[in-house]
Amino acid sequence: MIITSCGNSEGIAKKLASELKLKYSPLTIASFPDGDIYLKFNTELKGQKVVIVQSFFPHPDMSLFDVVFAAKTAKDLGAKKVILVAPYLGYMRQDKRFHSGECISSRVMADLLNGSVDKLITFDPHLHRYKSLKDIFTIPTVRLTANPLIAEFIKKQFPAKYFKNEVIIGPDWESYQWANDIAKAVGVKATVLEKKRLSSWHVQERMINPVPIRGRDVIIVDDIISTGRTIAEAAKKAKKMGARSVMAIGVHGILIEDALAKMHKAGVGKLVTTNCIEQPSNKIDVTPLLLQELKKER
Ligand code: R5P
Repeated sequence: MIITSCGNSEGIAKKLASELKLKYSPLTIASFPDGDIYLKFNTELKGQKVVIVQSFFPHPDMSLFDVVFAAKTAKDLGAKKVILVAPYLGYMRQDKRFHSGECISSRVMADLLNGSVDKLITFDPHLHRYKSLKDIFTIPTVRLTANPLIAEFIKKQFPAKYFKNEVIIGPDWESYQWANDIAKAVGVKATVLEKKRLSSWHVQERMINPVPIRGRDVIIVDDIISTGRTIAEAAKKAKKMGARSVMAIGVHGILIEDALAKMHKAGVGKLVTTNCIEQPSNKIDVTPLLLQELKKER
């Protein structure tokens, strides 16, 4: 088995290779003068299982393109199986035609992967209107969740004397599933806000099942933190309700535009992300769960 990466997620790829005592062989990816992609494997692939570790951020378009080219090339060079480990799987949010004429990007992305990789392993994919990855993927898929790792992090983070003062908030209905799971594992209450998305850039929050917030340490958990608006609105709401502190935890820290400043201004004292996307805010390592999965492939 060989571990490679198209540039994103190199940290996880190297860690996986070292823990599994496998070769890490990075790909050479460049462009021809006209912009066409140039891609080269730097190790023998014949008869090997090839694991491509690649999150779809930064550069979601090129990430997808690189994976498709890499996977097809690996097969062409004799690899017996190509496994894509995409800690963050992009394109999942466009899961319907919101306006007539729009591309349902998640389906196109899945079709491209169905036609190039043999198996997909990912973390907390954004499943909203789809019930399961099977709705769009024909290849075998493994859907991992960072929830147990997030719960462990929260338990370690809060000193015993404050323990159980926390409230876990999911900023919208979709996030309630994991807010609730994490709260159960930590042994505290969870609540959910209703998010009204006024546009891609504007959201408003309302608490649906109110729980006492005054004097509490609020932890807002979400799968994706992109522009930071969803978290910022939830943080403002929590602060207004008297939260003593507000921490935000995201599985996938995309963190574009002024996301950090916006969340900070709204009262988020600490931001924590998993390393599904490499960011300075990474404090939760998902590699141990990937190791368990890849050991099954050896
Ligand atoms: C949306 O349904 C997701 O679960 C996140 O809440 C959303 O992607 C966050 O985006 P932003 O940070 O731009 O508000």
